[in-house]
Amino acid sequence: MADKLRVGILGFGTVGTGVVKGLTKNAELIAFRTGMTITITRIAVSNINRKREIEVNPAIITTDASQVTDADDIDLVVELIGGTDLAKDYVLAALNNGKSVVTANKSLIAKHGEELFQAAKKSDADLYYEASVAGGIPIIKGLREGFAGNHIECIYGILNGTCNYILTRMENEGVDFEPVLKEAQALGYAEADPELDVEGWDAAHKTCILGSLAYGAWYDMDEVHVEGISTLDQQDVKNAANLGYKIKLLGIIKHDSDQVQMRVHPTLLPQDKMLAKVDGVNNSVCVTGDFVGDAMFYGQGAGMEATASSVISDIVDVALNWKHKVNNRLPAFVEHTHYQKNLLPMSEIVCRYYIRLALADKPGTLGIVTSIFGKYDISLETVLQTASDSTNSVPVIIITHQAKEANIRAALKEIEESPVSDAKPIMIRIEDM
Ligand code: HSE
Repeated sequence: MADKLRVGILGFGTVGTGVVKGLTKNAELIAFRTGMTITITRIAVSNINRKREIEVNPAIITTDASQVTDADDIDLVVELIGGTDLAKDYVLAALNNGKSVVTANKSLIAKHGEELFQAAKKSDADLYYEASVAGGIPIIKGLREGFAGNHIECIYGILNGTCNYILTRMENEGVDFEPVLKEAQALGYAEADPELDVEGWDAAHKTCILGSLAYGAWYDMDEVHVEGISTLDQQDVKNAANLGYKIKLLGIIKHDSDQVQMRVHPTLLPQDKMLAKVDGVNNSVCVTGDFVGDAMFYGQGAGMEATASSVISDIVDVALNWKHKVNNRLPAFVEHTHYQKNLLPMSEIVCRYYIRLALADKPGTLGIVTSIFGKYDISLETVLQTASDSTNSVPVIIITHQAKEANIRAALKEIEESPVSDAKPIMIRIEDM
């Protein structure tokens, strides 16, 4: 039936509830826009007795996922259970049965994208994943369609709302990391395992998806450099503010000197940059293309309605493909060889650095430190020594000019091992954008 799309949903949690609500509330509008009727044929759940926010016909609820993935009366499977084990089996089963799939599952796409897209290609099925990155922000469509005629020079993303919420509170209220994390969890921002947020993994999954889409190859998640915010000290947030910067956890994707970089780490951004002004639980993505120039997306990176909005936009794409019998007119992922597949090793990146040292308060100390930086070809832009807060040790804040990461690491190791250093040096990268 070309005017009807029959949908089966795996998972009836927060996002599943949002999708059912959205498809119901705006059914007439979606039908006008697509010329299609979208019906939910079945929903597979793990706990049939759980109390739900919305009522659906009990006859469409099942605990058997195969009644969605293998059913003849379902054209599209929407995977909303999360995780990479069962979700992968179900998505592969659906694709192998020739059904199109929509998923919000970032870790599944980041880790198994290559295999899943091969299965989709083999079955000539669509596999869409808009909700996997930045919740309600249409960044996948933006890259895939809006910037299809551009070489993407770089992408900077605030991709984890929990971390951005914590950093904003640390900056505005001078509070420490641990108590704010607890509040973020209580507000429902954090993943079930908050390490995924605060150690940077959630942002890394999203970064890997965006970078793979921008450069047409499934990059290996294990090659993406990942640092989180759990060890960030309030002192560095204050120092950054005094020097005119904000600290943000960024996903950074660049194509420099013929190689692709992908990394996630706390980053000092000049306070006047638009991305530095993105506060609280929101997400934002800045894209620079060789023709479009700079473009910026901003909005809710999580939450029931925002995430469901992206899932529904993918459902609408599948419905239109179904109507026109044109699977893959807008392929969700196109593999090509225009760019190199290997990522630039982290030791090779070049940027400016913020460094905090704890040094012995005695004659000659700064001379020893600056000569070590000089030995590794590192030029210093700013050196600030503040009053000693203990009897022996003084904090020294340094901003470097552009330097190679390998040289910075070697210099900091030598400083740490020298007799003038009282603690492990702190290093945070700076991006001028
Ligand atoms: N825990 C994630 C965040 C949810 O904080 O952004 C959306 O992926």
